[in-house]
Amino acid sequence: MKMTLKKSILGAVVLAGSVFGTLSVANAAGGDNDYEDKHVHWHFNGWNGSFDRAAAQRGYQVYREVCASCHQLKHLAFRHLGDEGAPFYDKKYPNPNDNPIVKGFAADWTIEDIDIDTGDVIDRKGIPADYFPPIYPNAAAAAASNNGKAPPDLSVMVKARTGGADYVYNVLISYKDDDPTYNKKMGGLIAMANPLSDGLVEYADGTEATVDQMAKDVTEFLAWSADPKMEARKSLGFATMLYLLILTILLFLSYRTVWRNVKH
Ligand code: HEC
Repeated sequence: MKMTLKKSILGAVVLAGSVFGTLSVANAAGGDNDYEDKHVHWHFNGWNGSFDRAAAQRGYQVYREVCASCHQLKHLAFRHLGDEGAPFYDKKYPNPNDNPIVKGFAADWTIEDIDIDTGDVIDRKGIPADYFPPIYPNAAAAAASNNGKAPPDLSVMVKARTGGADYVYNVLISYKDDDPTYNKKMGGLIAMANPLSDGLVEYADGTEATVDQMAKDVTEFLAWSADPKMEARKSLGFATMLYLLILTILLFLSYRTVWRNVKH
């Protein structure tokens, strides 16, 4: 009896010890667990949220001038920037292929193509119908130029990561002040050195380009690119709910009319 009691106490101690051991190892592997996400009140969240157009436009500028040297937006064509609900939509140009701003953005990129007469590989200016081109010839080259890790595609990053927009924003603002390779959100080392610094871009609308501002703006832009049909979907959802509500009221009234003379 005594023996078994001792044994079970010993067993419990060993078990507790191994659980604590595992927990603390997991803790160590998780790195900087003290980091607490900074939450932003995103304009696009909520049942009727919409994108902040000015922020998304500035965000495109940050993407173009900073992130585009490493990260592709492979699911996006230039013309998408001018679609309804997109940052550069202009109702004068229902067809984004005619939108001069979109044309200008496209022409700012070099696209690799084939000369249809000679079959040679040529470089030409982009047109709205082109997709954002790859930055590196292949994944190995991308990794070789970036501390061994290929920069992931950003077109659906906001949807792909738990935390969504807050995740992307917090990665961008959580570098240590004195160590551009240490990212608190990622719990330590990251193959992307801090890409942002105050005043890195000059915003056309005069907004001050602090790290926080640029991180918010580029996240707004990437939230749009990850869900370009969000606004249309939300307004359709609203119309559907309204329709169902009216239908419910009408059905209730007709039910009352039909059963009016029947005694319960
Ligand atoms: C010099 C190249 C470079 C630039 C410029 C750059 N990145 Fe990165 N980025 C990387 C690399 C490489 C990784 C992969 C890091 C890793 O997994 O350790 C990365 C990772 C990321 C991640 C985390 C992805 C994940 O897997 O969770 C995000 C988000 C990100 N970058 C966004 C941006 C944004 C936004 C910009 C522009 C403001 C930017 N990056 C600029 C190279 C770059």
